Amino acid sequence: MNGARLSVALCCVLTGCGGVQSALAPAGRQADEVATLFWAMLIAAAAIWLLVIAGAHWALRADPARYGERAAGWIIIGGGVVFPVTVLAALLTYGLSLLSQADAEPALTVRVSGEQWWWRIGYVHEAFDAPIESANEIRVPAGRPVAFELDSPDVIHSFWIPSLGGKLDMIPGRTNRLVLTPLEPGRYRGVCAEFCGTSHALMAFDVVVMPSRDFTRWLRAQAAPAHEASDEPARRGRELFHSTGCAACHTVRGHAETGQVGPDLTHVGTRASLGAGTLPNTRDNLTQWIASPQAIKPGALMPAFAMLAQEEIDALAAYLAGLE
Ligand code: CUA
Repeated sequence: MNGARLSVALCCVLTGCGGVQSALAPAGRQADEVATLFWAMLIAAAAIWLLVIAGAHWALRADPARYGERAAGWIIIGGGVVFPVTVLAALLTYGLSLLSQADAEPALTVRVSGEQWWWRIGYVHEAFDAPIESANEIRVPAGRPVAFELDSPDVIHSFWIPSLGGKLDMIPGRTNRLVLTPLEPGRYRGVCAEFCGTSHALMAFDVVVMPSRDFTRWLRAQAAPAHEASDEPARRGRELFHSTGCAACHTVRGHAETGQVGPDLTHVGTRASLGAGTLPNTRDNLTQWIASPQAIKPGALMPAFAMLAQEEIDALAAYLAGLE
């Protein structure tokens, strides 16, 4: 019985070591350093623990008559002063040596602003005059350092992509800079790591690390206005996007460019998730989100549109799903 419980517990613990959101499955240089430091510290701590247990075991069994006060003094100086000073100095030097490597100049800057509770994203690249706006999904090229400029308009969030590196706070009124070097192309998950309000736990984002050439092509497509689906429900949805007020908060470049309050939806149909990493991006989930965002993300600032006819909500979802 106990064995079964132990294996269940071990499974729960060990499944946390892999996957798209684990600091122990690094896919970038900085995450690799964190993981290396973790394993070095863990092995050193385990070795010291074994040594202390062995020492205690010996002390319990040793015959006190055989050792004088002098020997006790040596044990205290050796085990209590010399050993910890040497070991801690070695581990500190090792830890600091991992920090000291300077980064090459980043080729790409990604501005990320923590909103309640989603991510405003802007790609700053020398090939484009203005930042390319997006939301809730970050794409970066593999093999080169990327600078993230982090801030927030109201409350403190924390930007964390465990597979790529350590976390950094997003603080209103200042811009924090985090340089990460993604190495392994793939899809990962980032999260907000600082309590920021009701839906803090529903504030995630998708991270896609792409081969460098694919990334350049993708960024060029992002910079372009939306491709819109031309079928009938999508056309009706396009009209409704204006007449029901969506455009007051959301931008779709090439169609409605004034909305700044909510996430940019220019290429929303190509993103993996909805509601900042909360739901898979399907037509069905889009209709549910439009009808009642608060049922999915408590406290979300987007008003519910359940008063629209189901046919109108479906048309809006068709329009949004077709934005590529
Ligand atoms: Cu944003 Cu927690």
